[in-house]
Amino acid sequence: MCGIVGYIGNKEAYPILIKGLKRLEYRGYDSAGIALIDGNMTIFKKAGKVNDLETIVDPDKIAATIGIGHTRWATHGEPNDRNAHPHLSNSGDLAIIHNGIIENYSSIKEELTKRGYKFHSDTDTEVLVNLIEEVQKTEKTTLDNAVRIALNEVVGAYAIVILNLKNPDQLVAARKGSPLVIGIGDDEFYIASDASPIIEYTKNVVYLDDQEYAVINRDGNYSIRTLGNVEKSHEIQKLEFSLELIEKGGFEHFMLKEIYEQPKAIEDSLRGRMSASQGWIKLGGLNEYINRIDNADRFIITACGTSWHSSLIGEYLIEDLARIPVEVEYASEFRYRNPIIKETDVVIAISQSGETADTLAAIDLAKDRQALIYGICNVIGSSIARASHAGSYTHAGPEIGVASTKAFSTQISIITLIALQIAVVKGTIPTSKFREILYELENISSKIEETLALDAQIKEIAAIYKDATNFLYLGRGYNFPVALEGALKLKEISYIHAEGYPAAEMKHGPIALIDENMPVVFLATNKSAYDKIVSNVQEVKARKGRIIAVVHKGDTQIRALADHIIEVPETEEILSPLITIVPLQLLAYHIAIMRGCNVDQPRNLAKSVTVE
Ligand code: G6P
Repeated sequence: MCGIVGYIGNKEAYPILIKGLKRLEYRGYDSAGIALIDGNMTIFKKAGKVNDLETIVDPDKIAATIGIGHTRWATHGEPNDRNAHPHLSNSGDLAIIHNGIIENYSSIKEELTKRGYKFHSDTDTEVLVNLIEEVQKTEKTTLDNAVRIALNEVVGAYAIVILNLKNPDQLVAARKGSPLVIGIGDDEFYIASDASPIIEYTKNVVYLDDQEYAVINRDGNYSIRTLGNVEKSHEIQKLEFSLELIEKGGFEHFMLKEIYEQPKAIEDSLRGRMSASQGWIKLGGLNEYINRIDNADRFIITACGTSWHSSLIGEYLIEDLARIPVEVEYASEFRYRNPIIKETDVVIAISQSGETADTLAAIDLAKDRQALIYGICNVIGSSIARASHAGSYTHAGPEIGVASTKAFSTQISIITLIALQIAVVKGTIPTSKFREILYELENISSKIEETLALDAQIKEIAAIYKDATNFLYLGRGYNFPVALEGALKLKEISYIHAEGYPAAEMKHGPIALIDENMPVVFLATNKSAYDKIVSNVQEVKARKGRIIAVVHKGDTQIRALADHIIEVPETEEILSPLITIVPLQLLAYHIAIMRGCNVDQPRNLAKSVTVE
């Protein structure tokens, strides 16, 4: 939710900020803006994307070596020029960029208004910068101290960076609940919501913790303190990914690149964690708490969006293989509904970004109740990863397309390993079955490659249904969460209304929607419920629905009924989501492209939702 970037050093700030904003645009693209100091404070901001911002700037006229930039996902106030960040304080000395929400902004605004402050936007951010200015004036103190005092009065979440006209050799940054990373170059510093704007310049970074602020000086020094005014020293960490990974690498869109990266991403997520020939699984995070995990009374898996769908697959896997009861919870519901959480529960939080506010809050709640927290995150060093007692990274590499693809499949790989490792310790599956699944897992990437080769055929199907106004996705067992995820992919990027349903549940409502205009995507690879699915296909056929069926190679029964079949390689049923999701991702992608949609930046969405 909102991307922020800052630079101080010897280079020209403008190109660094613009490039950084483009890399962070996945976090929000309602408006973009920058502030630079080159003698004066100069602000450019505009509703729309970073490209729109570029149209109002003449880079030749700017020579600033300090600046900040923001790409917005609107919370307070419409996405227009006026509400775009950076926001200036009343004196014009301070410019701020902010990712998050100041919950008590209206009482602060009231107080500041009484003291004569004027507001030019509807944002909570403008209130914050003026509060900082007011503290600085009344306390007659330095900017960083004023930031510290002001933030102690604020309720909410923020990552902020402030530019001060009176001190063009310093940036002040702070965080609580929204991510912030400082890149350390040679006598220069970068600040950003994530490492993607930094990696091109330096691999050395420091992650700010919650309730900390940093003072970053042009002379090459920086310091970090808590909001309680205690000095902190953080170890400098090395970024592990390369620039290549955050570029499109010949693909037209990040989403397509990331769909195609799935075989490799899954291999990366499994590497060093299992061996089929030797018959072992070793998940570092799991080992540390293995007794508590094996003896858990219950698992609760909490997440949002696509990660919630992989959680559902996790429920099926853990109950099926490890025979431990599992509940899956939308993080946003879980945190507010006074759930029963016991010390003997293990709470698994799944999140690509590791920054989703609701998931983080759900973790805090479960931690308060003494449950063990196991995080499955993709972004290394992210807030959820750090808030968890233990966990496993998915190692999918940076996912930039807003619609999640490779993160989903690697989350499933990790949770499969977790379920299998517990199962083998508890003896809930025979060793022979354990080995068979491991071999199949080792082989799954090549089967995904085979499935990706169906792309041209899927594109043809997309061309036929691109103008549909509704879609239904149906699956049973392990394919039910895949149906949900397939429907979500289509909704997110093509704006076609789509619903995922358990295939058998269709007759309790959605069947009323079926007519000759309704495309129905069936996931029909389950051996265990094949006949039942065939009956469901018949039911749709009888009502003239248009059937697109994902089946195993060589299927004959459904071929005879369906309008289109997509034949995928056979695998263990418990691993089938890793394969059946691929045609659905491609179908959504092609339909969205044919409808002229921006697949990497769908309207109204953001990749990392750091607000409630
Ligand atoms: C947003 C994204 C989704 C994602 C969800 C959860 O809504 O657009 O793609 O699944 O957040 O994000 P997380 O980073 O926690 O997996």
